[in-house]
Amino acid sequence: MYLTRIEERILSGEYGEAKQLALKTIVKVGEALGAERLIPIKHAHVSGISYGTIGDHGLALLEDLVEKGAQVSVPTTVNPIGFDSEDPYLLSTVGVRVDEGFVRGQLRIIKALKAMGAKATLTCTPYYLPDTRSLSPGDHVSWGESSAILYGNTVIGVRTNREGGPLALMSAIAGRTYYWGLHLDEYRTPRVGFKLESPEPLDEVMAGLLGKIVSERYVGLRPPYVKARLRDELAVKEMLAAIGAAGSLAMIHLEGVTKPPIDEGRLESVEEVDWRELRDLYEEHRPSWRPDIVFLGCPHSRAEDLARLAKQLADKPAPRSKIVVTMSRYEYSRFRREYPDYYNVLEKKAVVVRDTCLIVAPLRGENGSPKIVTNSYKAYFYLSRKGLQVGLSTIEDMAQLIYQ
Ligand code: F3S
Repeated sequence: MYLTRIEERILSGEYGEAKQLALKTIVKVGEALGAERLIPIKHAHVSGISYGTIGDHGLALLEDLVEKGAQVSVPTTVNPIGFDSEDPYLLSTVGVRVDEGFVRGQLRIIKALKAMGAKATLTCTPYYLPDTRSLSPGDHVSWGESSAILYGNTVIGVRTNREGGPLALMSAIAGRTYYWGLHLDEYRTPRVGFKLESPEPLDEVMAGLLGKIVSERYVGLRPPYVKARLRDELAVKEMLAAIGAAGSLAMIHLEGVTKPPIDEGRLESVEEVDWRELRDLYEEHRPSWRPDIVFLGCPHSRAEDLARLAKQLADKPAPRSKIVVTMSRYEYSRFRREYPDYYNVLEKKAVVVRDTCLIVAPLRGENGSPKIVTNSYKAYFYLSRKGLQVGLSTIEDMAQLIYQ
């Protein structure tokens, strides 16, 4: 691999042991993939920081990096954890069993990341944070978290491969990544496509299920072209998250969203997705039972999603199901500020939790309970693998289920 003079000096240890180790790792991965050189990055997003996922070994690695003097070289945000950092036991009423050891381990992980200069944003939607507003299409970044990676490549137009958490952290420290895959123009151009004609724009659940279909039918490094009418931003976000959960893609070319537009006529093939297949899939996942928990926020909710939920619950009695919403601190404050009336509604009727990913939280199911309804195919995918009974429903339909 070609290295610049400065990269050679980093590798020789002139800039400290941590940076040397980080760059060595990036170079090794790049060489294994056939990258010819490295590319500077403007931002990193680090996933895989939950104590429940990385445990004491992961914690030891992070603390070792701190000891070696590791510092991130670019603005760095981080993924959610298994609880609200200001109120770790907030979800105990819905069966999340956080114990002291879990909290202690997690707080040490956050401390280590902060010591390296990362910002403890604790959200999987870095693309909604002011921290990423200065990023422009074509900027090279190194992101972990599949849903964010898909959103970054597809919607914002930044360039990242699908990195694991540790590699994104190494890139953050080295300030570079290997110049390969989705960093290159050629890998970002689709060759095959999927097309869906639907009588109306797809809501977030339908969009998620379309994402599952596309992800299961297409494997390749290049993004597939996808043409479908999606109802709104929430539908786009949920479709991309579903694609990330159900397969290994890191980008799609979404018609009308991804820039620059492409000429559909130049694709090698375009597969029609049958609307009836999607509708039947929706019926299969639609619950006929009343949920114990209604869950919103995978990926983390925006203030607008909460306003939509609150609108359904205003002027209604206390819900018969527990309502859990996960979101970033930033979107939470925006919700309080911009939607004070809806905030008052949800304060009484829902548990709104920050910093948290319900999937990595120690939520245990027993005998098919708790029964959960969510609008996220990604949450469905992971929660049903934990043995929980899960159904899919839009925000609007959730309100019906809660009171049935
Ligand atoms: Fe975010 Fe966790 Fe879902 S990281 S995308 S809430 S699985």
